[in-house]
Amino acid sequence: MEWNARWITTAEDMGSRAPCFSRDFRAAKPVQHATLRMTALGVYVAEINGKPVTDTVLNPGWTAYTRRLQVQTWDVTALIGAENTLTVTVGKGWYRSPLLCSDEGTIQTKLRDKPAAITAELTLTYADGAVEVIRTDETWTAGEGPIRFSELYDGEICDATFVPPPALPAVLCDGPTDTLIPHQGAPVREQGRVHAVCSFVTPRGETVIDFGQELTGFLEVTVDAHAGDVVDVSFAEVLDREGNFYTENYRGAKCRYHYICREGRQTYKTRLTFYGFRYIRVNSFPGSLAPDSFTAVVVHSDMRRTGHIESSDPALNQLLSNIIWGQKGNFVDVPTDCPQRDERLGWLGDIQVFARATCMNFDVEHFLSKWLQDLAADQHEDGYVGAVIPDVWTRQHDRGTASAAWGDAATIVPWEVWRAYGSIGVLRRQFPSMKKWVDYIGTVTTTPGLWTGCWHFADWLGLDAPAGSYKGSSRDDVVATAYYAYSTELVVKAGRVLGEDVSAYERLYGEIVAAFRAAFPEYHTQTECVLAAHFRLAEDPQKTADLLAEKVRQAGSQLQTGFVGTPYILHVLSDYGHADLAWELLLRREYPSWLYPVTRGATTIWEHWDGVMPDGGFWSRDMNSFNHYAYGAVADWMYSAAAGIQAPEDAPGYARIRFAPQPTDRLAWFGASIDTRHGLASSRWTKTENGWRFDITTPVEAEVVLPGKRLSVPAGSHVFFAGREG
Ligand code: BGC
Repeated sequence: MEWNARWITTAEDMGSRAPCFSRDFRAAKPVQHATLRMTALGVYVAEINGKPVTDTVLNPGWTAYTRRLQVQTWDVTALIGAENTLTVTVGKGWYRSPLLCSDEGTIQTKLRDKPAAITAELTLTYADGAVEVIRTDETWTAGEGPIRFSELYDGEICDATFVPPPALPAVLCDGPTDTLIPHQGAPVREQGRVHAVCSFVTPRGETVIDFGQELTGFLEVTVDAHAGDVVDVSFAEVLDREGNFYTENYRGAKCRYHYICREGRQTYKTRLTFYGFRYIRVNSFPGSLAPDSFTAVVVHSDMRRTGHIESSDPALNQLLSNIIWGQKGNFVDVPTDCPQRDERLGWLGDIQVFARATCMNFDVEHFLSKWLQDLAADQHEDGYVGAVIPDVWTRQHDRGTASAAWGDAATIVPWEVWRAYGSIGVLRRQFPSMKKWVDYIGTVTTTPGLWTGCWHFADWLGLDAPAGSYKGSSRDDVVATAYYAYSTELVVKAGRVLGEDVSAYERLYGEIVAAFRAAFPEYHTQTECVLAAHFRLAEDPQKTADLLAEKVRQAGSQLQTGFVGTPYILHVLSDYGHADLAWELLLRREYPSWLYPVTRGATTIWEHWDGVMPDGGFWSRDMNSFNHYAYGAVADWMYSAAAGIQAPEDAPGYARIRFAPQPTDRLAWFGASIDTRHGLASSRWTKTENGWRFDITTPVEAEVVLPGKRLSVPAGSHVFFAGREG
């Protein structure tokens, strides 16, 4: 985009302190319209005469910074008076925080050493038609402010008593200009407020407040204080076995919240960093705590809730709630693995497995479409896609090649957005990136038609992992080739939708399937069975699904799948006649299962099935997030198999619907709805004395498939079917 303002910085690098840039200006005549366009290296809060210019937060958001930096446009007409001051406070944000990058030479190690800087352009259009433009230059000042420390992982220190020395003139500096783009992401906002449920003293004698819900966001304190009094708080997701406050799983993230009060009653809220937490420990607080002293402020990107699931089983309902909160907590501008420890990165494997469920829970076309453009921007010329986007580790290449099931987000996520919303624009934009990814695999594999000879995360966290490893026992080459086939298939399908010539990919797909069958006639693990059957690579998918059922039963009706097998295991079982076993797995309450964490009081999805073990201990200190959405992928099965609401591939965006519910007599009733782009689709079944009652509402023409029945239903109907045969 065209950009005429200069970048400015401080005379001296302020390190982790958040500088305040400022400019006074007069509006000599009545102002008809005022627009502020700006961006920063870091995250910023801009105010005119002490009032924020927007209710969105954490601007300019997180993008593939070396290729794309978003510029925001704010209508500030209502804030302009005769005498004005524009101030901009800049924290390190994503741009200048370490973001788990210690290796020199990565993108992030270069970005994080840059000083805080902004570029801005304020346009005042007067009532008489005259236009005045104020741009960042040396007439601005840059000084210290009350935020004495600001960083993404390590939190914030704010001193409300701080008296800043006189600010110095700002200094012109180099900053990105040819990579500036108009803001694309879904706005990030404060989306809700959660009040404390209770406060208590732990066995260790510490005062802890429980918000009753794990969430991501800011923390607001309201306090009566004397100048110099301190509010100091720590954050945690869980309590340990003894009921003590537990922070070890935040690893290196210090998550500080240290506020030095001014005199009187005051309210303070962090705005330049965020925290993932359920509990806070009050390390220092002046006077006595009141129930409303602290409020948790939920922050995430704008997304409309579209999916609902409810059943007669409260534990299942809690599971869905956990999935929804997991999505909220990890959709802060970029889809992340977790929101709390020193990670919070756009891990591709995580969003790849969660993509379909994500698109049903909320309308996330806007959110994912911006992130996919970052993926394409950070994709290398040869098609390599990093494990995280924005690819803060790019040029690191320490693993030599991209990982299957992580890099495949390049094909799978655009396809899921297309399926859920019929967004042809997203598919068209991503198509070159999708093809490049598949082409890339062909250049790194050591065996044509298979993906062999490379390192992969594979069935990450599979329970059949050998001792000491995070990787399940499924063979790398089986997992990688299965995804090679799936990505190629998606390029073929996307190309057909777009009217592209995909004959070369059709041939390649045939070759991969043939090579897979020849190389891998047998499947050793649950996940290998899942992939071979689900992607229809096995010679006999039915036999493979039966083998899966057998393996699950042999394991004591337990799943052993990790990231790669878990999203599809229930689908394979229910698609091939083992729906009852699928239900048994879903409703199982003992470890390992989706409901086990619920029995332990989870309010979000855990990274590990045994984040808290049955004996109350933790499975690990360093890889133990309690807000990791990946296994929440199971929501997709609940909508599309349990309730049976399906968008056929030739009717993306639910332009036509197939209802094929799979009831179980383990529940009294189960229902789901999706507010599609065409209207509300819902399906609910209830156990009756002589069978089932099915209630179906469809906004579009639908096919209904019930036990022993198949019929067409016109658009806009609400129908019910009852009886022994359905
Ligand atoms: C992250 C994951 C990610 C994985 C890949 C972890 O540290 O939290 O969710 O996908 O690494 O290895």
